[in-house]
Amino acid sequence: MNTCIGAQHGARVVITDVKDELGRNVTVSIGEDKVSYFHCDVRKETEVESPVKFTVEKHGRIDVLFSNAGSWPLINVRGAAAFIKHVARAMVEKKTRGSIVCTTSVASVIAGTVVPHGYTASKHALVGLIRSAAGDLGKHGIRVNGVAPFGWRRRWCARMEASELEEIFSEAANLKGIVLKARHVAEAALFLASDDSAYVSGHNLLVDGGFSVIKN
Ligand SMILES: NC(=O)c1ccc[n+]([C@@H]2O[C@H](COP(=O)([O-])OP(=O)(O)OC[C@H]3O[C@@H](n4cnc5c(N)ncnc54)[C@H](O)[C@@H]3O)[C@@H](O)[C@H]2O)c1
Repeated sequence: MNTCIGAQHGARVVITDVKDELGRNVTVSIGEDKVSYFHCDVRKETEVESPVKFTVEKHGRIDVLFSNAGSWPLINVRGAAAFIKHVARAMVEKKTRGSIVCTTSVASVIAGTVVPHGYTASKHALVGLIRSAAGDLGKHGIRVNGVAPFGWRRRWCARMEASELEEIFSEAANLKGIVLKARHVAEAALFLASDDSAYVSGHNLLVDGGFSVIKN
């Protein structure tokens, strides 16, 4: 969804993932003139360097990093840290006043949701990393922000049907009459990536329908 929305807004996108078939299918479905796929396990810093280099060689510079891969603590924090480090270096080198956006979670600001402790702790740590990077990169004109969603229906879920999961999220949600979709998260990420948020940095934008500010 993020790739789709980015490409629709004229971006040239390089997707990285460990699911090669999925990555290539997305590339073909949007158009290989707009999107490229690069295999990368974000847990391995050496694998993160290659797509960054590839992107700079292919497109001349990097304007936006959207660091979205997440689940286990190692991916949530180390993966984002490695990408921020290498993309920020490329931005500084090319004097690009870029935008870095990381997907955090409602569990980055509150505890006691259904997710494991390690997930909550690592998403909180990711917010710390976003703030720290925003502080360090501000002098280069680079912005760093997070987008913090409530739960939404995933493409797949090991233990239950996606529709069942959506029903559970809707039941728990604060905002009724609307179901959070990947598109809502992608649109918030697009806002943070674009010049519409030109003076926003170090922010963790909640896309949670008010869930985190009420007593559940
Ligand atoms: N789905 C939710 O309810 C929800 C809620 C809040 C936050 N989030 C966050 O949103 C982001 C996306 O989650 P999602 O639910 O769409 O999950 P998803 O599994 O559908 O998407 C995550 C993608 O990351 C890739 N990935 C996993 N491990 C990787 C690795 N080591 N290296 C490279 N890529 C890897 C996966 O292959 C997948 O394509 C995550 O950061 C997640 O923590 C999700």
